[in-house]
Amino acid sequence: MITPAGPLEGEITISGAKNSVLKLMAATTLAAGVHTIYNVPDIHDVDVMCRLLESMGARTERRDGLVEIEIGDLEPVAPFALVEQMRASTAVLGPLIARFGRVELGIPGGDDFGHRPIDMHLTGLETLGAQFEARPEGVIGTTPGLKGAVVTLAFPSVGATENLMMAATLATGTTVIDNAAREPEIADLASMLNKMGARITGSGTPQITIEGVDRLEAVTHRVIPDRIHAATYMAATGLAGGEVVLREARYDQMDMVCQKFGEMGVRTSPCRDGIWVMGRERPTAVDLSTLPYPGVATDYKPFLVALLTVAEGTSIVTENLFAGRFKYVDELVKLGAKVRTDGNHAIIRGVERLSGGEVVSHDIRAGAALVIAALGATAETVVLDDGHIARGYPDLAGDLRSLGADVRVSAG
Ligand code: UD1
Repeated sequence: MITPAGPLEGEITISGAKNSVLKLMAATTLAAGVHTIYNVPDIHDVDVMCRLLESMGARTERRDGLVEIEIGDLEPVAPFALVEQMRASTAVLGPLIARFGRVELGIPGGDDFGHRPIDMHLTGLETLGAQFEARPEGVIGTTPGLKGAVVTLAFPSVGATENLMMAATLATGTTVIDNAAREPEIADLASMLNKMGARITGSGTPQITIEGVDRLEAVTHRVIPDRIHAATYMAATGLAGGEVVLREARYDQMDMVCQKFGEMGVRTSPCRDGIWVMGRERPTAVDLSTLPYPGVATDYKPFLVALLTVAEGTSIVTENLFAGRFKYVDELVKLGAKVRTDGNHAIIRGVERLSGGEVVSHDIRAGAALVIAALGATAETVVLDDGHIARGYPDLAGDLRSLGADVRVSAG
């Protein structure tokens, strides 16, 4: 329940990145021993990844913002019941086949991997010498041993780059990933793998080179801050007005989106503790397109669209990564937004204020976008959320309250 309030004032600390920690946890399966990962966000998807690792025989323990993972001999089988809950489960594919020579990933439906295929993960690993078979219970992979090769990705897929990079660490010889994704979370993963003893160069660039090693060791690693959270609170500041500091946030990993916020009238700048944000006037309309990093990430889009619903002028937002990622727009319209979607485009005619109402959140980012959109409305809004927001945000409502917003959560 969100009662409009503002301006937002104060500081919040940005927690570790969901899209990084889940992959770092998957990477622990590459080496026996006790791994410790710090700055772990208290979110549901981390629990799911712990359960997935435990189901294979690992021991996990979470306390005080860290997760300890003890890896021994694992059964390299990721069961459907867990995989279907979380797309990021596919990150165990590369490390498991590299270390154990076999893997089973419980994705139903044989070759039909639904709306988010993993064909590039599989063909990339096949280039390294793996063989995959689609069975009713999932994908089964085997290899007599992975061998380094040049893999050119048809698209810079984040997940495929991560799976290939992890698998190649234990392959014989050198692997080159061309047209690799460049997201900061990939550089974070490479940095942990290198601490484990891997030999990776070029992460964060379109060409990553991995020289295979015989074995890796358990390590300690700190997760990078969540740039998607930071963008959520930037947009919130734009919607409610105010001045906030996002401690720990990394400006250098958010260049392009900060530039876009600037064009909309939300000022950001790096400061000693993180990023300083100020929203003082009604936002200005802008056009934007989502692109792989360093472009504006698709995950930022719901917050940017929420902000543009109250901008002065008309904006066109184009989605280039995932078809049909505009489901939340219908909910914004219920709050009085004037948005029309046409294929991969949303045309947003800014209104002065949204009106409040009752809306439904369909996924993590859309849920957060509806909550922040409601901050600047004229009346109370209820966002019905079936646990989606908790999958990605440790305490969205608490963070907004600590900045002076009136956001309450009730169970049931
Ligand atoms: C990751 C992020 C997600 C983000 C996305 C793009 C995690 C847990 N998720 O998802 O939040 O929105 O990056 O920045 O880190 N594709 C294929 N075949 C493949 C792989 C991908 O066709 O084998 C397509 C996808 O359907 C999509 C595009 O490539 O259209 C990008 O996907 P990808 O970069 O792989 O995203 P994810 O790693 O799934």
